[in-house]
Amino acid sequence: MIQIDRLFARFSLSMLMLSIVAGVTASFAYLFPATFNGILPFHQFRPIHASAALFWIITGAACCVSYFSKRRSATFMVIWMVSIVLIFISYFFNRYGGREYWEFPPLLNLPLLIGWLFFMAAFIRKFSEEAPVYTWMWTSGIIFFLLTFLEQNLYHVPWFRASFLREVTVQWKANGSMVGAWNQMINGLSVVLLMVIGNNKGPAISKKAYFLFFLGLFNLMFNWGHHIYNVPNNNWMRGVAYGVSMTEWIILILIIRDFRRTLDHGRKLRHLVVYRFISAAELWVFANLFLALLMSIPAINRHTHGTHITVAHAMGTTIGINTMLLLAAFGQMMDIDQIADRTKRWILFAIRLNNASLAVFWLSLILAGLLKGYLTVDHADAVFSEVMLKVRPFLEAFTASGLGVMIALGIIACIYLKNTGRISYEDD
Ligand code: HEM
Repeated sequence: MIQIDRLFARFSLSMLMLSIVAGVTASFAYLFPATFNGILPFHQFRPIHASAALFWIITGAACCVSYFSKRRSATFMVIWMVSIVLIFISYFFNRYGGREYWEFPPLLNLPLLIGWLFFMAAFIRKFSEEAPVYTWMWTSGIIFFLLTFLEQNLYHVPWFRASFLREVTVQWKANGSMVGAWNQMINGLSVVLLMVIGNNKGPAISKKAYFLFFLGLFNLMFNWGHHIYNVPNNNWMRGVAYGVSMTEWIILILIIRDFRRTLDHGRKLRHLVVYRFISAAELWVFANLFLALLMSIPAINRHTHGTHITVAHAMGTTIGINTMLLLAAFGQMMDIDQIADRTKRWILFAIRLNNASLAVFWLSLILAGLLKGYLTVDHADAVFSEVMLKVRPFLEAFTASGLGVMIALGIIACIYLKNTGRISYEDD
């Protein structure tokens, strides 16, 4: 069992590696199509990158939840890893299908579904009503992942395919809610980390933590409204959805701030690496909250929808928040603060490099999106190729800073991969 557990941790980190390498390759293929189209075209690398990113977050969250909850299913881990390997083999042989982010042959959804059911069964079997708040967060995240995964596959039912609008609405809605499901799992991990590092049960039993749980649940049920902004809809629903999604982040900020205020200096130094990952996540919660608030203003949204600003929002949150919190959780699992000082200094350097590179990466995408939105909406007669020529310098800055993100996360992933042997399981 332990061998499979450690393999599962290595597999999650390999997904992170694959995602960053495919992301950089995709951005080069986008900038230089003449050179890349023959061998590595953008349309092939985008799905590889997006699927690897998605699997990094879901597999990483499942791996950390299995570890901290002590509810592990070897069957789930094996089925899940084999299915993902088959998915990337399909991509390699140009076998596509499915829908956005899940662009592999749809039959492979079946083993993923079966695997997740095993995970859910192992998890829920031991559930008790007196469980601390993080167990509630994990449970709701795991159940809602199943529901949104099923919803995402509704296109197999002919009735959903009969209308394009219906199918797109369900797809966007399902993908939006799925983000809420993994956020719930990762929020639970954050609560455990704050509790362990601070040596204080407060974050797991405080009223604020329960409030965050219910708000997270409410979010994953209702905040998908902002994912279907462009389909015919009532305006009040858009307003409510945005209001809901903003509040979840504010509560996360409050919990982390409380923790930082009460954490003594000694404990902070003893857990410096994990602490720095959490602080980086906090910074990116602020930045993305600011961006989301701007994007939600209808006059701005009119210019930004579907531009690179949407990509900035997607990667700003998945790299800045989800990835930072998962790396904090993996770090805690392998007791990374006890490794040699020299290696620790490398990780601390990589966190700073990632923050700086991600800032340029994120701002370049926002500026590219603003310029593209302005030129296409306010100058409807503009020629598309000329618009893209003006946007190009920002995309070059994005690619260059993407290299920085890749190097920074690559350093961390390599160090973690070398240290997975440090993860100790109860049957060790
Ligand atoms: C942990 C690391 C990363 C994660 C979790 C991640 C996540 C994502 C996600 C979720 C998308 C889909 C966005 C959307 O549909 O709006 C995306 C797209 C993309 N990412 Fe990343 N990403 C990561 C790192 C990188 C890096 C280092 C680069 C290098 C430049 C990169 C380049 C791209 C490109 C070119 C796209 C396609 C954008 C488009 O279609 O316009 N990513 N990424």
